[in-house]
Amino acid sequence: MTDISTTYMGLSLSSPIIAGSSDFTSSTERVMEMAKAGAGAVVLKSVFEEQILMEIDAQRTNNMFNSYTDAENYVSFYTRQHEVQSYLNLIRDSKKNAGIPIIASVHCSTNDSWVSFAKDIERSGADAIELNIFILPSDPNENDASVAARYIEIVDSVKKNTTLPVALKVHHYFTGMANFMVNLSEISEALVLFNRFFNPDININTMTIESGGSFSTPEENGLVQRWIGILRPFVKGNLAATTGIHDGAGVVKNLLAGANVVQVATTLYKSGPESITQMNSFLKKWMMEHKYEYISDFQGKLSYAGANNPGLYERAQFMKYFSGLGK
Ligand SMILES: Cc1cc2nc3c(=O)[nH]c(=O)nc-3n(C[C@H](O)[C@H](O)[C@H](O)COP(=O)(O)O)c2cc1C
Repeated sequence: MTDISTTYMGLSLSSPIIAGSSDFTSSTERVMEMAKAGAGAVVLKSVFEEQILMEIDAQRTNNMFNSYTDAENYVSFYTRQHEVQSYLNLIRDSKKNAGIPIIASVHCSTNDSWVSFAKDIERSGADAIELNIFILPSDPNENDASVAARYIEIVDSVKKNTTLPVALKVHHYFTGMANFMVNLSEISEALVLFNRFFNPDININTMTIESGGSFSTPEENGLVQRWIGILRPFVKGNLAATTGIHDGAGVVKNLLAGANVVQVATTLYKSGPESITQMNSFLKKWMMEHKYEYISDFQGKLSYAGANNPGLYERAQFMKYFSGLGK
């Protein structure tokens, strides 16, 4: 018997594969498609802090958008297109129809009054909240302690407004990475590693900065495996792996490193929802071949604590490589 069911933030999942926040989780129909394909849960498309603030305080939002830069125009346009109320309806309808856990997602960078929206998310029936905290430490005048404090303030403020489990989707631009991740894991139920940015790509003909595209490659998953593997022994809560998981082998690798679940997006765009079905089949087959009955039988087996050569997560790998001994 092979059982791929698992738990994530106290929720029961039929599979460790979650449809990550994307267009594929932006309508009830699509959420139902994800459930049908075998997703263990979905993270809904994010609602932005700015959208929530707009509903709470129209006057202030007008002030926010008084000076019309391109970026603000975009936010203003986007905000009109995606009403916050319809987000709550999406939670309600998805919960009613999909039959799998529904994780709401908020893209945020402050602990402004939007945090009270967590109450509405809870009332609408979401099973958990994922905070996509987007604070790029790009200000040379702000030190890492101040950036870290902002993260902690956001989580504290949201937690005061909800009893739902909270996952933190973060990037990897931190000093004292392991220490900060462990601190964050102590005030939340899960860490989602890592958020993927829309990287710039300079066009040398038009001399403009363009978006480098939003889809990942499997090579990008190495960074995720490293940090899941390193953090697993130190994080009591859950870890979700995301970025560059495109197939069943990718799922197995991240579970072995120590992830409780994986989140996928790019593969949905490239290969459709059935990619989740294929990943589930691969996972079952791999477990059968290796005689594992439950996910917990092998989850974290190759984490920093479990691997017999954990140095490969660290510097030893580079020494080997640069001395010509590595592949
Ligand atoms: C087109 C697109 C839209 C996305 N929208 C969101 C979003 O609204 N909120 C969010 O937290 N992540 C968003 N993501 C990030 C994904 O949830 C995921 O974390 C990331 O793409 C890495 O997974 P992948 O390598 O499977 O694509 C988006 C990704 C893509 C490709």
